[in-house]
Amino acid sequence: MSQIQLLPAVEKFLSQPGRLFIGGTWQDAAGGRRFAVENPASESSVAEVAEGDERDVDAAVAAARAAFTGPWAQHSPAQRGLLLFRLAELLDQHREELAQLITLENGKPIANARGEAASAANIIRYFAGWPTKIEGSTHPVSPASGAPMLNYTVREPVGVCALIVPWNFPLTMCVWKLGPVLATGCVAVLKPAEQTPLVAIRLVQLIEAAGFPAGVVNLVTGLGAHTGAPLAGHADVDKIAFTGSTQVGRLIAQAATGNMKKVSLELGGKSPNIILPDADIVRAAKGAADGIFYNQGQVCTAGSRLYVHASVLDQVLEELQRHAAAHVLGPGLDPANSMGPLVSARQLGSVRGYLQRGQEEGAELICGGDRPAHLERGHFIQPSVFLDRAERACVAREEIFGPVLTVMSWTEVDELVLRANDSPYGLAAGLWTRDLRSAHRVAAQLKAGSVWINCWNVVDPASPFGGYKQSGWGREMSKNVIDAYTETKSVFVDLA
Ligand code: NAI
Ligand code: MG
Repeated sequence: MSQIQLLPAVEKFLSQPGRLFIGGTWQDAAGGRRFAVENPASESSVAEVAEGDERDVDAAVAAARAAFTGPWAQHSPAQRGLLLFRLAELLDQHREELAQLITLENGKPIANARGEAASAANIIRYFAGWPTKIEGSTHPVSPASGAPMLNYTVREPVGVCALIVPWNFPLTMCVWKLGPVLATGCVAVLKPAEQTPLVAIRLVQLIEAAGFPAGVVNLVTGLGAHTGAPLAGHADVDKIAFTGSTQVGRLIAQAATGNMKKVSLELGGKSPNIILPDADIVRAAKGAADGIFYNQGQVCTAGSRLYVHASVLDQVLEELQRHAAAHVLGPGLDPANSMGPLVSARQLGSVRGYLQRGQEEGAELICGGDRPAHLERGHFIQPSVFLDRAERACVAREEIFGPVLTVMSWTEVDELVLRANDSPYGLAAGLWTRDLRSAHRVAAQLKAGSVWINCWNVVDPASPFGGYKQSGWGREMSKNVIDAYTETKSVFVDLA
């Protein structure tokens, strides 16, 4: 097969430099600078985008504040819901455009990008139902004076939210955060990753087209240090929501202490996936392979540590090799390819470093391990599997963020649980078994924000998502995220 044709709308979009969106106006960066966006499959530049700095961040925060206290505060909950429903419709109408932009800048197979675009509309639709359901409560207080007293709570939007998102799911990460912002009546300054600003720009164009008032969503593209950092430290930002590396998450938490802004963080993982001896082994091995190879392994919840019961180890290794070999690597715009490139030369360098160090530290390479020989250009890496009997190599302990699985074997379940939990992270965990008792017993002991039984990477806007330990602070989606974007006000009324 060959690469799909880009839609005329996409060609036109790429031909114009991407601009910042501040207070309802598309504009160049204050410093006039731009940066290039690369197609990671071809290593060629596909578009130019404004490179914002502190001045643009200041202007965007001021515009957001003005909208928050002005026109946006006048919108009823039902009106906010209606605008979100309109946005969902637009996301559906422009699904193919969004998908093509995702594949162009991120590299993932077009089928996966189409899935990401479709789910974005569903997520926004989920949040469209929330504005009319954000409720307070009444509380049976007992004043010492004995005076009759009414006490009730209301939930109010927290205010100006800085949203800093990564490149691995460049559209999903934007809507996970913008959905609750818009549902609760907050306002936002969105800072997409420098690798993937294009789909974020297109999304914000659709937000504008849906009819949200100027200043409710502002967009500042640019580099982490020059746009993300000033946002994180900004004195007039009330809340920051970040997804990305634990390293930058730490910086953001520190920067937030200046004005004690609210912080939610979705960070890294090294998630354990466990195969019990009574599992459907063929299905479990397929699930384990998909759990690590999906999105080229660039998933915070990647099932990167696989614990296989010793009695089925050989069979699982064989199945894993078969699944790795079945992947067809190549540009994501060719629907024949099931695995695209990594996002950048830097990411490829980092993953190759792990492949080398893993072997030096005694892990046995079962398959993969290098760039595919037939692809000259692009940041491609083979799907790879290690067996690490000692469980000491870096590939068994550190987040790689690439299609690299490390397999360990186990025999005794209590010891297995200790090993699975022995990680600074706690984002996700999973297990494969046909036994109901083992399923719930092990699930209860795993220290992770998401536990998947006989499945992997299932996420849903109605269910909370987030991490234990160094995998983050707070939860996204579901009612939990509505709480995270609102303040609770407790009102006492003396009825005497
Ligand atoms: P990163 O954490 O540097 O980037 C994520 C976002 O933070 C981007 O928008 C970036 O511009 C911004 N940023 C960077 N430095 C900042 C700063 N000082 N202040 C404020 N914002 C800043 O992640 P990077 O460097 O792209 O990837 C490195 C590793 O991070 C990956 O190999 C992976 O292990 C992990 N990662 C985890 C993700 C997740 O979903 N949890 C997503 C992306 C990366
Ligand atoms: Mg970084």
